Amino acid sequence: MTQTIHIERTTTPKPKPAANELGFGKYFTDHMFILDYEEGKGWHNARIVPYQPISLDPAAKVFHYGQTIFEGLKAYRTENGKISLFRPDMNMKRLNRSNDRMSIPPVDEALGLEALRQLVLIDQDWIPDAPETSLYVRPFVIATEPALGVSPSQQYKFMIILSPVGTYYAEGIKPVSIYVESEYARSVVGGVGHVKTAGNYAAGLKAQEGASALGYSQVLWLDGVHRKYVEEVGSMNVFFRIGDKVITPALTGGLLPGITRDSVIHLLKHWGVEVEERLISIDELVQAQKDGSLKEMFGTGTAAVISPVGSLHWKGEKLMIGDGSTGELSARVYDTITGIQNGRIEDPFSWRVVV
Ligand code: COI
Repeated sequence: MTQTIHIERTTTPKPKPAANELGFGKYFTDHMFILDYEEGKGWHNARIVPYQPISLDPAAKVFHYGQTIFEGLKAYRTENGKISLFRPDMNMKRLNRSNDRMSIPPVDEALGLEALRQLVLIDQDWIPDAPETSLYVRPFVIATEPALGVSPSQQYKFMIILSPVGTYYAEGIKPVSIYVESEYARSVVGGVGHVKTAGNYAAGLKAQEGASALGYSQVLWLDGVHRKYVEEVGSMNVFFRIGDKVITPALTGGLLPGITRDSVIHLLKHWGVEVEERLISIDELVQAQKDGSLKEMFGTGTAAVISPVGSLHWKGEKLMIGDGSTGELSARVYDTITGIQNGRIEDPFSWRVVV
């Protein structure tokens, strides 16, 4: 790390919301981190300042060409009173892979991790401790150069904001119903589906709106070329228990390499469960549902951790997953990952990082 972080504390701390009002991403803490970039000067002026609106030129490239990336991770107050992050090094590495794809200069990962640590410590009183709550950490980079030519920006801001959160879905860990999307595509190999850039999420809204209007919680995304292979569910990675095996789509370049996905694969293998990372088609899934071997399905992501799927809607048919309730393995994975995250149980993989 090459620079120190200047700190300006707020003189007007905000009231904190009650645990039952949290929802997801509605409240923000008292401070934020900012780092500026200018071509020729590099990343500079690392600072933690009171949370406040930022002023940008209307011509800033992020508004016009979407040159931006983000990350998401969580901080927890563990039972011994310590504060920990879950695998933050993985987020900083992915942040730089996303930067690279979007032609944004890399951020010093050690500085990013130190910024996370200091910001979470300064706002530690905002970490909620009710069950199913945490402090969501949102690092992001935006292109700020005021210029309308389509070329990489010469100026950027890397920022981190914090939000005390409850469960991502109102359903919590209860199974959701999913609409298999066959009209819209989320990504194609060679595009940007494997990195965390805003456009992936904006491009998914139309399908999400359609599914919500029909009464479904989320969509199941099929690959953009054949509309055949399953890729993600909503904004999450997806897992299926078929017979005794667990199958998750391979990282072909069309889907995000989730950190929760990686953790679930590690955990299942540690338990001796056979995990296959491979292409899995909607036809194979339908077949497995019909012959009774599709026992469980769940999404994985930082925000919701594990989100069990109760049913799939495909070609006018409602396909129940197992008996429609949260599967045994899904519940065990959820309890174990959240237990490791919040310090309730042993961390055999050293994923918890005390700040
Ligand atoms: C996650 O599940 O971690 C996500 O990326 C969802 C986020 C966009 C809220």
